Amino acid sequence: MRLDRYIASQRTDLSRSDVKALVRRGKVTVNGAAAARADIQVKEGSDTVCVSGEEITYREHVYIMLNKPAGVVCATRDGLSKTVLELVPAELRREGLFPAGRLDKDTEGFVLLTDDGALAHRMLSPVSHVPKKYLVKLEKPCQSETIGIFAAGVTIDGGEVCLPAELEISPDPCVVTLTLHEGKFHQVKRMFISQDNKVLYLKRISIGNMVLDENLEPGKCLEILHKDVEKLLAHS
Ligand code: URA
Repeated sequence: MRLDRYIASQRTDLSRSDVKALVRRGKVTVNGAAAARADIQVKEGSDTVCVSGEEITYREHVYIMLNKPAGVVCATRDGLSKTVLELVPAELRREGLFPAGRLDKDTEGFVLLTDDGALAHRMLSPVSHVPKKYLVKLEKPCQSETIGIFAAGVTIDGGEVCLPAELEISPDPCVVTLTLHEGKFHQVKRMFISQDNKVLYLKRISIGNMVLDENLEPGKCLEILHKDVEKLLAHS
């Protein structure tokens, strides 16, 4: 691949003309030697390319764990509110990056962002049933019978039947965790409405076997490896 294309494909904050200018200034090295021109060929995966001393590791796709704060929307564009894409740092931004699955604007927690459409499709497919676990704070104490009702598949809004879901009630009965194997619109909120309760706070804490990093502050991103995302899909 041409050097300028290689760098621009990995760093959306650098255009191919930016790369050319950096090469002219001697800021780009390939295997330790300053690149003479921007159109030289490099081998992705084996040549070491650095810009201003910082290595540009080649990745075909990026996978990002975001701890979404409340008030941010899971969309690629929104006229009014901040989007999850605006929280991605420049070095992880890519053409075609999007959230693989949505959380409501007021929901916090784990959102997976990627530019790998095929993987996102597998993850979001209704037959994949990747489990998603939520921490829920409720207005009223959760009744222990709700565990069985959700495990049997609760009917919401007088007709829609949910897949069996696992509910755990903590020592404080207003705090529970709920694991879903599907993603109906506002599902957690609607499931508790069906039990005459109300969700006051909602946070997604895991997807598949991948748990939201507890050190990741709201609004911050962490790059995750492709093989770990594959493991996440292997759970179901
Ligand atoms: N269920 C909800 O009600 N909202 C979310 O954001 C996710 C699951």
